[in-house]
Amino acid sequence: MQTPWGYRYAQRTHQMASSAIRELLKITEAHDLISFAGGLPAPEVFPVEAFSKACERVLRDFGSKALQYSTTEGYLPLREMVVRHTWRYGIKVNPDNILITSGSQQALDLLGKIFINPGDLILVEAPTYLGAIQAWKAYGAEFVPVPVDEHGMMMDAFEEALRAGPKFIYVLPNFQNPTGVTLSEARRGKLIDLADRYGLPIVEDDPYGQLRYNGSHLPSIVVMDSKLRDNGEACYRGNVIYLSTFSKILAPGLRLAWVIAPPEVISKLVQAKQGADLHTSSLNQMVAHEVSRGGFLDRHIKVIKRVYGERRDVMLEAMEAHFPAEVNWTHPEGGLFLWGTLPEHLNSMEVLQAAIEHKVAFVSGEPFYPCGGGQNTMRLNFSNATPEDIRLGISRLGGVLHEMIGNKMVV
Ligand SMILES: Cc1ncc(COP(=O)(O)O)c(C=O)c1O
Repeated sequence: MQTPWGYRYAQRTHQMASSAIRELLKITEAHDLISFAGGLPAPEVFPVEAFSKACERVLRDFGSKALQYSTTEGYLPLREMVVRHTWRYGIKVNPDNILITSGSQQALDLLGKIFINPGDLILVEAPTYLGAIQAWKAYGAEFVPVPVDEHGMMMDAFEEALRAGPKFIYVLPNFQNPTGVTLSEARRGKLIDLADRYGLPIVEDDPYGQLRYNGSHLPSIVVMDSKLRDNGEACYRGNVIYLSTFSKILAPGLRLAWVIAPPEVISKLVQAKQGADLHTSSLNQMVAHEVSRGGFLDRHIKVIKRVYGERRDVMLEAMEAHFPAEVNWTHPEGGLFLWGTLPEHLNSMEVLQAAIEHKVAFVSGEPFYPCGGGQNTMRLNFSNATPEDIRLGISRLGGVLHEMIGNKMVV
């Protein structure tokens, strides 16, 4: 039955659609499936004991502050911690460059709120992070897609795309969601040079940069940009807005992330955030700060890297053993995902239907392409399932793929 609300939605509301992944997660939770679908961290690595002690200390020592309203910018000691962390990578920032947000997802939404007019073009990788497409479509954004290969955004297509006149560039340089590929150092340099030449700002989304399992660390785009413009000041005023999060290195249930940007952008984001939620939970910020102190976060990241690095290897080995030769996949050096490409005549949505019947799930790649395409692609998460389940799930999926490609099943 139509309620009185049905015809009162704003125009932008009609642009909104449910995330394909969130919908799929409901199915995988409801059935007894091995799921490679979500981007979920491994629950086994959550430092529950450390959180329990930190909660106790925060409530005992700063209880009334933790339960009170607070400033929109975020808890100062936490912002100072982000400042120290950022200096380690060579970017001179101060707390005025930092905003704490309720997840990077909120930061993406706030960026949409302050920058995007209906019809504005945003240059994105194809495929790119679904949550950014979802957040920005609601503000009427349109997208200029640039294809990605095993070294990230392809630079010829990038230069071509710049001529379309995008408002800004959105890039995930490290172990990109969804493909797991990393933008090479040479391409990072070229991206910054071209963005500078065309006067275009960059949004760098980096939830996975600290989760590298092999290969060498590459400087982030904000670091390379800050070197270009170093004016001796302990304040970043460059061309890049950098996002990162505690979701993958501590716990996503905290809903805690940070933005690094020039102070005038931070001020606008603060105004936008006031309209959204006044501020991010004081209690969560204080507990996250308390947990992370004294080198705990660095030690914890080492644990996560060991667990996820092993799971990635197990998945790659199992794919090698069970997947048909016609399927190709990426070999990520970090992060949470890898990306499979099926023969063109296969539709990964149909493969997914068959896979669910065999009690294994993944995410079809198509929703990650903002302008269509990718019907024969799939994203697989390797952080959430145990090594035993990864082996079993991949052998089930391999069986489905062999069947659909028309080969004899390999047992
Ligand atoms: C590229 C990217 N950006 C942003 C987010 C959102 O992260 P958060 O949990 O901080 O909201 C994710 C989550 O998976 C992501 O992969």
